[in-house]
Amino acid sequence: MCGIVGILGQHEAAPMLVEALKRLEYRGYDSAGIATVNDGALDRRRAVGKLVNLSDLLVHEPLAGKSGIGHTRWATHGAPNLINTHPHQTRRVAVVHNGIIENYRDLRADLAKAGVRHQTETDTETVALLAQHYLDEGANPEEAARRTIARLEGAYALAFLFDGESDLMIVARKGSPLAIGHGTDEVYIGSDAIALAPMTDRVTYLEEGDCAVLTRSSITITDPDGNPVTREERTIQLDAARVDKAGHKHFMSKEIAEQPTVISETIAAYVVSNASDIKLPGDGIDFTEINRLTMASCGTAYYACLTAKYWFEQLAGLPVEIDFASEFRYRAPPVTDGTAALFVSQSGETADTLAALRYCEGKAQSILSVTNVPQSSIARESDLSMPIHAGAEIGVASTKAFTCQLTVLFLLALKAAHARGRITDEGLRAKLEAVRGLPAILNQAMGVEEHVRSISQRLAESRDALFLGRGLMFPIALEGALKLKEISYIHAEGYASGELKHGPIALIDEKMPVVVLAPRNALFDKTVSNMQEVMARGGNVILITDAAGARDASDGVWQTIVMPDVDFDLTPILYALPVQFLAYHTAVTKGTDVDQPRNLAKSVTVE
Ligand code: AGP
Repeated sequence: MCGIVGILGQHEAAPMLVEALKRLEYRGYDSAGIATVNDGALDRRRAVGKLVNLSDLLVHEPLAGKSGIGHTRWATHGAPNLINTHPHQTRRVAVVHNGIIENYRDLRADLAKAGVRHQTETDTETVALLAQHYLDEGANPEEAARRTIARLEGAYALAFLFDGESDLMIVARKGSPLAIGHGTDEVYIGSDAIALAPMTDRVTYLEEGDCAVLTRSSITITDPDGNPVTREERTIQLDAARVDKAGHKHFMSKEIAEQPTVISETIAAYVVSNASDIKLPGDGIDFTEINRLTMASCGTAYYACLTAKYWFEQLAGLPVEIDFASEFRYRAPPVTDGTAALFVSQSGETADTLAALRYCEGKAQSILSVTNVPQSSIARESDLSMPIHAGAEIGVASTKAFTCQLTVLFLLALKAAHARGRITDEGLRAKLEAVRGLPAILNQAMGVEEHVRSISQRLAESRDALFLGRGLMFPIALEGALKLKEISYIHAEGYASGELKHGPIALIDEKMPVVVLAPRNALFDKTVSNMQEVMARGGNVILITDAAGARDASDGVWQTIVMPDVDFDLTPILYALPVQFLAYHTAVTKGTDVDQPRNLAKSVTVE
């Protein structure tokens, strides 16, 4: 997604803007630009491609000025070319924007009637031209910005700079997050706290519909009705160490390796010291009052929900309905009494997931969320928000966030099972001991990386791949397929093993690698028979199993990846690791952009 930054500072803004934009690269982008006001004069520099191109341009064509805004663009309206790159600037206004203005065509038409012509294909240019139009009508900058904002429909995080105004920035948010950073005689804005980390850890998040008029000495926030409001200033405990690669070639590699550590932090945050119970934030939730759980999320977070469905149903006896958030929000399902709605989101800003949450407001008995950003919109709009404590996840492909999500969801399912009398105190204690042993087992499992890397050399030559799993392994098969396709660009599909005979088996031949996830549990034999059907047709099987499974079913497979033994309920968390390694090393072999794969964004804050 796009990222915006801004500074009203005491020093040259350009280098600080570029540094802040570098911290937003993880969101995915295809061009970048900055604008500054220098001695009252508004000017901009823009470049297509990576930020290094903008930095090169600034070496040859420096941009002075202590007030500035910056943008990384992930193209929504208009090709990723220079003319569409932000900031969009008119004679007196420069604007950067994250989101989608859904009524921009109507606004363009109105401007055309007033003789105002567009140069680009973007909705954001329309915002700049509208503000310019109001300035031409005699409005002052604040009036021009407010009148412009009032006409916008859709999602936006906006920042305006004005020619002749060296100590003024006007910002607004609706649907896309925006944070204000507090400095000493300086003020900053950013799409998230990571962008602001180099300048400050004191942050105020704007709420839905807020607008703010900023100078170096004042911040005036107004609500959608124009009433002055105060928003909480927070100190962000952003571990700056977690936003660098720590010696790894890619953020994704680092974040895979961090999993034992961050999962142990997640466990420590929720499991009481004597492992006898789970403590939820705030007043928690009384699961004896809940008779149904509905979950909606996107991508990897959806697969975390699908995994949790098995846990809630099997451990807690709680009926669970899940759906992709983009379907849920338009399917508009009935939400019956006693239903809790649960939303999982690493960023906490995914537009479809946020919309699904808002659909449940006033309908669900309780709205729960599991996010990696406690100040995010989804977290703040929940009755109970459960942070996953994964630390900043920079790689677009989610890894440690996924396994931390699973950890929190498993603990929540245990909490529900215990509250509903489905497991005893002793049973809960036993499961919590198993959970506390997981980080060490994950550490041990890191040893499969070299074997997986060797397999990836050949997997990288494939055009397609299938991932198969049953029960708790089915969501991990789906996740493995998503990981592989999103960073190596190899077409991959995840399937329930039992579905193979209902069509996908037609795909099997000697060119089709098939990853089979099968710890030696109750479903193992069924999956092995599916695996043999694949091998009988020439398919190359990569079996991911445990020692017992390897002993009983390795004959004839192409490769066997042997995982440590673990409580079968916890296999999804452990078996996510080899499929992460498989995707990562295949992508590295293919030379794709592992941390920022083509076309993808870390946080999809637009529909
Ligand atoms: C996962 O690797 C992808 N980056 C993507 O599917 C992601 O999980 C999805 O966009 C949801 O993001 P969220 O967790 O921030 O809501």
